[in-house]
Amino acid sequence: MSRQFFVGGNFKMNPNSVSEKRALTELLNQAHLDPSVEVVVSPPFLYLIPLKEILRKEIKIAAQNCYFKDSGAFTGEISPVQLKDAGIPYVILGHSERRTLFHETSEIVAQKTKAALASSLSQRETGKTTEVCSEQLKAVVSVLSEADWSKIVIAYEPVWAIGTGKVATSTQAQETHADIRAYLSSAVSPAVAKSTRIIYGGSVNKGNCKELSVQPDVDGFLVGGASLKPEFVDIINATL
Ligand code: G3P
Repeated sequence: MSRQFFVGGNFKMNPNSVSEKRALTELLNQAHLDPSVEVVVSPPFLYLIPLKEILRKEIKIAAQNCYFKDSGAFTGEISPVQLKDAGIPYVILGHSERRTLFHETSEIVAQKTKAALASSLSQRETGKTTEVCSEQLKAVVSVLSEADWSKIVIAYEPVWAIGTGKVATSTQAQETHADIRAYLSSAVSPAVAKSTRIIYGGSVNKGNCKELSVQPDVDGFLVGGASLKPEFVDIINATL
């Protein structure tokens, strides 16, 4: 089964002003985007619904986090059920910034992933080197069924490459992606390993995206800083 190329823009806690937000939206709405690529942007919670309303329909929206309960006394949190109700089809889970700054463990990420899938949301992402990837994936593998994997996109993001301008070489990225796929094959099934998209994140820009995109196990990108700039369009069109 061929895997559809996926490019996600993780805006993190940006943009900071209405004018920046408008410029970004206009850029994406007017650009020529490769129609064969699945494009998903992930703004802060506050902008999820407004962006969904003004962005062209082919671009999907993702939340950057959610809790694992449906509702209740959890001040400051948002549930997968609420995201689903708002028409938000994806959520990023297990980002290294959530793990290091907000102390999320692999078990919490696994619980969140399970809860998100129960609400038909469909993205988690994780990262780091092969050993850490396996440790992080193990927690998720243990709570998911084989069918759940069709709704998952895995992002490999070496922490040293996030926001640093130091991108993994295409060889490094390919090796780790292949390792993650091999892990999925043994821990879940060869079919799941073959069909699950594994995307790369960490200082992706218009200068390095093409070389990374031709690696057989690189199925797209999760873009931070460059997703806020015009070059995001070049990254979406990397395989053209
Ligand atoms: O989630 C994407 C991200 O962590 C990568 O950030 O700024 O290095 O592209 P950046």
